[in-house]
Amino acid sequence: MSTPEARKQDVEHPGQDNRLQGTHEQTHRPQNRTPILLARQLEKTVDSGSGRLTILNALDLEIHAGESVAIVGSSGAGKSTLLALLAGLDTLTRGELALFGTSLSSLDEDGRARLRAGQVGFVFQNFQLLPTLTALENVLLPLELSEAGVDTRQAQQWLTRVGLEARVQHLPKQLSGGEQQRVAIARAFVTRPALVFADEPTGNLDRATGDRIADLLFTLNRESGTTLVLVTHDPQLAARCDRTLTLDDGRLHETDASGAPDHATDGAVRP
Ligand SMILES: Nc1ncnc2c1ncn2[C@@H]1O[C@H](COP(=O)(O)OP(=O)(O)OP(=O)(O)O)[C@@H](O)[C@H]1O
Ligand SMILES: [Mg+2]
Repeated sequence: MSTPEARKQDVEHPGQDNRLQGTHEQTHRPQNRTPILLARQLEKTVDSGSGRLTILNALDLEIHAGESVAIVGSSGAGKSTLLALLAGLDTLTRGELALFGTSLSSLDEDGRARLRAGQVGFVFQNFQLLPTLTALENVLLPLELSEAGVDTRQAQQWLTRVGLEARVQHLPKQLSGGEQQRVAIARAFVTRPALVFADEPTGNLDRATGDRIADLLFTLNRESGTTLVLVTHDPQLAARCDRTLTLDDGRLHETDASGAPDHATDGAVRP
């Protein structure tokens, strides 16, 4: 596994490896090397009022550094459950999952948090901003928890990039849904993570603002090599990703952005 320093170096100098030979907007296929994320036979079963419910079943997935991957599927298919599992925010019922070459099953909750710190950003579907902190303080939080340390200027710059320079001192309850979503995006990117999971990152935005945020995400993917794993119901956003995977019946299938089978591939979920 690469060290955090090496991964940071990768992010800051992406031209020094092969992850940025192109972007989807110039169609690229990453080279065959250790995946940034490797999932084998993932299963997630929960207890519900009416008995055991299997949400994910024998799911395989491989994602390489610098890729952008859209995960689509009907409401209730298990997309948010999958994203939380992949980021190590939830525990598997069965299967193997490795992030940056480290098996998550070998780590306890603190170990998983340490692995994520500064390296993984997460945009929650329901934002999950801390209600007593201002927009700026919410964005500063991951910096405080990472090696980077507090950098108010950096946090302010991120709020400006998402168009919220006039809202830095607002509490979440004083922000609209779309504004809260953009704070959550700034918070996910502020540490310049190698890997970002975003659950419906434009779901609460009008088309123009959503396009602006999508442009920002794909610019970071292209210029900094940030690996993007996006859950979306928006076919236009999915179409901008290198690959679209549809979650159905607990498994992922390679499809085009509309969810139809992708005949350009053999249906495997490996790049
Ligand atoms: N802890 C839990 N206990 C019981 N059922 C759960 C639990 N977590 C998720 N589910 C169920 O699992 C299914 C998948 O939920 P999930 O939130 O992952 O769907 P989703 O694909 O993200 O949907 P949406 O597109 O509406 O956001 C849902 O039917 C949900 O009710
Ligand atoms: Mg969801």
